This record gives sequence, C-alpha cells and structure tokens, in this order.
Amino acid sequence: MRRLVPAVLASALLVLVVASGLLVLSDDEPAPDAGPVLEQRTSTVLAADFEGGLDGWEALGPARVEQRPGDAHGGAASLVTTARAEAWNGAALDVTGLLTPGTEHAVSVWVRLAPGSEPADLQLTVRHRTGDETTHDHLVSQAVTADAWTELRAAYTLPGAAEDVDMYVESLGSLTDFLVDDVLVTKETPPVQTDVPPLADAFPDGVEVGTAVARQDLVGAPAELLTRHFTMVTPENALKPASVQPREGEWTFERADEVLDLAVENDLRVYGHTLVWHRSTPDWFFEGPDGEPLGDGPEDRALLLARLEAHMRAIRTHLDERYGDADPVWAWDVVNEAVDPEQDDGLRRNEWYRVLGPGYVADAFRIADEVFGEDTLLFLNDYDTESPAKRQAVADIVRRLLDEGVPIDGVGHQMHVNLTTPVHRIEVTLDTFAELGVRQAITELDVSISATGEVLDRTPPDRLAEQGRYYRDVMDVVTRHAPELESVSFWGLYDTRSWLRTWPRDRPFEAPLLFDDDLQAKPAFWGVVDPSRLG
Ligand code: XIL
Repeated sequence: MRRLVPAVLASALLVLVVASGLLVLSDDEPAPDAGPVLEQRTSTVLAADFEGGLDGWEALGPARVEQRPGDAHGGAASLVTTARAEAWNGAALDVTGLLTPGTEHAVSVWVRLAPGSEPADLQLTVRHRTGDETTHDHLVSQAVTADAWTELRAAYTLPGAAEDVDMYVESLGSLTDFLVDDVLVTKETPPVQTDVPPLADAFPDGVEVGTAVARQDLVGAPAELLTRHFTMVTPENALKPASVQPREGEWTFERADEVLDLAVENDLRVYGHTLVWHRSTPDWFFEGPDGEPLGDGPEDRALLLARLEAHMRAIRTHLDERYGDADPVWAWDVVNEAVDPEQDDGLRRNEWYRVLGPGYVADAFRIADEVFGEDTLLFLNDYDTESPAKRQAVADIVRRLLDEGVPIDGVGHQMHVNLTTPVHRIEVTLDTFAELGVRQAITELDVSISATGEVLDRTPPDRLAEQGRYYRDVMDVVTRHAPELESVSFWGLYDTRSWLRTWPRDRPFEAPLLFDDDLQAKPAFWGVVDPSRLG
C-alpha cells in the first residue's frame, strides 16, 4: 500500500482564505488579508458561501431566498432574502445533527441589507424541538446597514438532545430585504489520534480507500484526519451538474477546485461524482430556449446530447488547464442511479430517459469515453445493488452495455446499508459482477445504526459495538474480493458530516461512519482496521 506522506501534516497551519475561496497551505504567518486561521484542533461543521447555489438554505415562512450573484462578502455571490411577510421570516438551514449537544460552537454569519434599505436590526436564531417543546435561542442581534457587511458572531451550545434544529437569520421589527454570506460554524475537537494505524494500511494492495468530502473537511482537524487515513476523495456535491453548471454556460468550479487542490497537494486520487443523474441537475438541461420542456423529437434530442457533451468537455478543459498532467481525477460516475428493477427495461424513468430514451446510458458512456479518454475509469453507480432485485437489474443492463461494445469500465456500489442488511448479499453482488468481468468500486459506504423508519434519541453503545462487527464482516468480504475492487469509499469523514443525519428524515443521533463527532475512532474503525480490538 502506498504510504501517505501528507504535506498537510508537515504544515503548522492551515489557512482558509475565505475571501478568495482559495485553500492555502503554509508554514508561515498567514498573509495580512487572510481570513480566519483554523488551528488543527478546530473542526468546521458548516461552511456555506453560496458561490455554487443555496447550500441547502431555505425560506423560513413566507419569504423568498435566492442566490445573489455579484453581491458578496467573500467570493462572487451571497444569499438574498426578500418578500418577507413577518419579521421572523428569513433564511434558514436545517442543522439537525450538525451541532453536538453540550459542545460550544463558534458561529459567524455575515449580513448586509439590500441596497437602499434603511438600517435595521437582524438577529441570528437557533430553533430546536425536544418532544413537544420548541425553543428559540437568540444568539445575537445587531444593527445592520445597506452600506457594509456586518458580522453576526456568537458562541452557542445546543443544550441537549434536540430534533428539527434550524439556524436562521430574521429581523427585529422590519420587513427589510437582506443578504447573508460566509456562514461558518466551528467547534474545538480533541487532537486527531496519532496512535491508531492509518486506515489505508488495513486495505489490500491496489484498493484505494476514499471518503466523500466538502469544503469544511479541508482545513483544521478534519483535514488532518483525512490525509492521515485516506488515499482518495470524492467531492460530496461539488462536481454534481447543479454545482458545476447552475445556468447554461456558467461554470462554477471553485468548490471542486478546493477539493482537487488538496488532493493534488497530498497525493490523493479523486473519484469524480457525477455526470448524469436525475437529481442535482438544473432544470435548464431539459428545457428548450423557450423555457418549455424538451420533447423526444430529433432536434430536442440533439440539443440535450450536445449539452451533455458540452458539460463533459468543459469539465475536461478545466481539469487540463488547472492541473495538466497532475489531474487527480482517475474515475467518474458517468451515470448515477439509472436503474429501476420495477421497469420492463430496468431503467428509471427520468428526464434523460424521457427525452433520449433507453439509449441515453450508452450515449453518456460513449461521450465520456471520448472526452475523458482512456486514462479515466468510467463507472455506472447505483444504490441497493446488494438487494437481489436491484443486483439482477443492474447486471442485466451492464451485460447489455458490454454486448453492445459500450465503453463502461465498472460498476459502483453505493452501499448505503444498515445493521440488518445481510453481509452475505454484498458478497453475492461482488461475485455477480466479477463474473461479468467489469471492475468494481464501493463508492458511498455507510452503515446506519437505526433501522428503517427508526429515530434514535441517543447513540446507543451497543449499536456502535454491533456496527463494529458489521464493518469487520464487510472488511472480510472486501479482502476476499480485493482483485476485483478498485476502491472502497465512505460517504463522509466523521459522523457529524453524514448525510443520513437529515435524510430521509432528521436523525440527529445517526452514526454510520468510522469516526465519531469528535473525530475519534469508533468500534467501526477497529472493525475495519483490527477486529481483535473489538471487545
Ligand atoms: C448526497 C449528499 O451527501 C448531500 O450533501 C446532498 O444534499 C444530497 O446528496 N447517493 C449519491 C450521493 O449518489 O450523491 C448522495 O449525496 C447520497 C446518495
């Protein structure tokens, strides 16, 4: 296994230059215009700057929130809130599971009023629910003008176990329109453990070990954890079509560049995610110049295919220009979640299918092959491939693609499983695709500790122990299948960062990953690395 010599560990400081959106690694004093300096013990749990969209923020009550290009505290865009009917209507983010109860968080939000507005007071609030009781904690309120950005800054501790936790900006006594930018929430975490073996060493030679990351993982303690343990990263959202090309011909690579820059600095591979998907793809892809939905006639089909090709080519050009021979992207999820076992032809009915018909999957791979060339592995990625029906449907489609000579290299298994998913099914799946002769990757592994529909009110130690044994068994399967597996990637670096905390419902105590909210190794880690340590 390739040893990691992370440049980031040698670096005394990680400096996040918020204003320019650039990540700078430096042993020296930060430049005078640098943003906040994040020490190695600081973990960023939220970093929203609205450069690529709304970053999950929504209107609270009857109001409108939109991205506002051209007006920003840092970078080129902010979030604007208008059409508010009452003072409490504002811009909100669901932060359930993001704030560790009992732990102090440093919160910083930059605000400004819309041009021409009279000065007004804005307030930062966290609303949370425990049982039937909803509490509003007002963190800070301050007079704000239209002329200058003002920082709303507070230390905040969520008092106890809570659900439906929202952080929002509201006003006091006015209905003013306002802008929000550069939201940063951090907490102090214990030192990253240096006396545990690197995860990568536990994996067989030739199997990369990856994790999904976003910008909050690229500085401070999470970055140290990342470079200590992993050999690969997948940008969690930054390479999705909606992030890269929100409007036709308008490219926003900043978020992806941050991840790729860190990967290049630290000799990590990048798994590209994703080119064709029914989600996180802006509507304009499927609309004609008149704003009407595309049909399935020859002209509209040609337009959609041309857009797909233009999308891929622009990404390729950007990677070439920025990284040249050091381009770290070695694989792409060309098509994500295309399979639906309920359909006769096994394909999910989505906008791509509606316009292009069943051939769109082959088209996407042919274009990707032309654009990204032979050096990049091209994957068909899907969830639930461990379940018999889905496994069969994906295998049928892959067989068909191979028979037609479509340039597909492999199958990605997302592997979002829980403690009741029989591990044996994972093994049968890897065997099934091995027989087809395609490469395989486990692309989004997480093992949730709650059953379907269950919402835990704490993280029970016995579930964590069971999860350790589950990961041990998965690792046995991985080891046996090493020759067919390119990589195993986890969907998040540590539990606070798991998408399962808010999907498909709020589950603040879900803990599906290898490291806990303090970035410390869980039984899950030992299940993978050294099962003899599992009590
Ligand atoms: C998820 C991200 O983790 C979230 O941050 C985002 O809000 C929604 O998407 N399958 C996929 C991933 O292929 O892209 C999804 O990632 C998780 C399910």
